Amino acid sequence: MTSSRTVVILAAGEGKRMKSALPKVLHELLGRTLVGHVLAAAAPVDAGRTLVVVGHGADAVTAHLAAVAPAAVPVLQAVQNGTGHAVRIALDAATDARGTVVVLNGDVPLLRAETVTALVEAHEATGAAATVLAASVDDPTGLGRIVRSADGSLERIVEERDASDPQRAIREINAGIYAFDAVALRAALGKLSTDNDQGEEYLTDVFALLGDAGERVAVHLALDPTETLGCNDRAELASLRALLRDRVNRDWMRSGVTILDPATTWVDVTVTLSRDAVIDQNSQLYGTTTVASGAVVGPDTTLVDTVVSEGASVLRAHVVGARIGVEATVGPYSYLRPGTVLGAKAKVGGFVETKNAVLGDGAKVPHLTYAGDATIGAKANIGAGTIFANYDGVAKHHTTVGDAAFVGSDSVLIAPVEIGPGAYVAAGSAIASDVPPGALGVTRAPQRSVDGWVARKRPGTVSDAAARAAAAEGEQLHGEQDRGDANSATGDTASE
Ligand code: UD1
Ligand code: CA
Repeated sequence: MTSSRTVVILAAGEGKRMKSALPKVLHELLGRTLVGHVLAAAAPVDAGRTLVVVGHGADAVTAHLAAVAPAAVPVLQAVQNGTGHAVRIALDAATDARGTVVVLNGDVPLLRAETVTALVEAHEATGAAATVLAASVDDPTGLGRIVRSADGSLERIVEERDASDPQRAIREINAGIYAFDAVALRAALGKLSTDNDQGEEYLTDVFALLGDAGERVAVHLALDPTETLGCNDRAELASLRALLRDRVNRDWMRSGVTILDPATTWVDVTVTLSRDAVIDQNSQLYGTTTVASGAVVGPDTTLVDTVVSEGASVLRAHVVGARIGVEATVGPYSYLRPGTVLGAKAKVGGFVETKNAVLGDGAKVPHLTYAGDATIGAKANIGAGTIFANYDGVAKHHTTVGDAAFVGSDSVLIAPVEIGPGAYVAAGSAIASDVPPGALGVTRAPQRSVDGWVARKRPGTVSDAAARAAAAEGEQLHGEQDRGDANSATGDTASE
């Protein structure tokens, strides 16, 4: 049986102060959009139905929902007439809603799932018609205030712009997260007025309306007020990002991950780290990245959608869509692109770029190489400066290097081409046809030294001087050797 609860997320507002072409709720925070975080926080409500009110940038928000939360139903609020109006429109699209309706502002990304669960449990346990999540904050500027009567019960929620001076001094604020009884909510929404400073229908007025009608309304206090912080401009977005970074890092450290410098380590909420993984400073771990036990990442490393296996190390590298095998090593200063797969103990050293390249166990690409569209066998060794020429200007082609093959430095492997198992390629070769197993492929032009060229073409240069000095020394040496030979021939080894 599906749950009878309904979740409504309010995401129709423009977010003017973001000054952005992107709707506010689509701005990103460590791996999820603002609305993505709110959807994740609402997940344990186990709603039979999740409605997202869209308006500004409705097409973009709807497309995003289809990608990240296909079960969520967008409901269009063509004109943004206030939070109460938004919920009214949502409920019009869910006429059979009964039981608990959880309403969440779409711009409160630090909200924890546990807090939403606690709110809903408290609401359902007390049988209140409406329960608001509140928080005590140092600076309540801009937020709705919780106004309590003499006995401490909730009287009303007042927006700052409609508040009296004593009300403005209240530091208990409305977080914009609520649980309602569906029937009571629907009745109260029908009675909302627009008699306020903004001329909008305020969802918050539902509390006074229900209270006046003799229904029970309640306040649930959030233990951690930072969870209730909203996001109104990009400076706030940056503060929220830093708070979330600290929270994520703290959680990983408490579960056994070493993070050497949490202030410069940014881990998306979608990343998975294992016990005894080590993350060194100034590293960014994004997307579906996983880092296994005993692996060391960083310093100065970015991993996007990458798997780092047990005991591997990745140092000062930029890695996107790669799988790094057990005890493999990467870096420093290398760029691994999608489709890179490193076998166990494989090595990608310094200043190497790989793309769609599969390295077998123990294969080595130690220095200054581009390996694109390549299969490199186990224990093969690719010399410094090798280029896998995979692109002919029209199409990409594949290169295969067999197990334990040895490619000499500064070679070009012109795809499609295959270097057989155990074959060698001579340094400086341009290889365009297959090298059979165990053979040597060599395309070097024969070397020729033109004697005396410098003396004729570059007379008087430092090179010329060095060459003359070497020649003079050589002659002297020859002379000595001649004498030495003569001496040894006579058995006289005495030195002068
Ligand atoms: C609201 C609350 C305030 C609370 C604060 C917490 C009201 C009247 N006030 O104020 O008490 O302290 O949140 O952050 O509810 N939205 C729509 N359609 C609309 C208007 C808003 O979908 O017509 C959405 C916005 O996109 C946003 C959310 O509702 O996600 C809240 O709207 P916003 O204008 O930010 O309300 P606040 O002024 O912050
Ligand atoms: Ca807001």
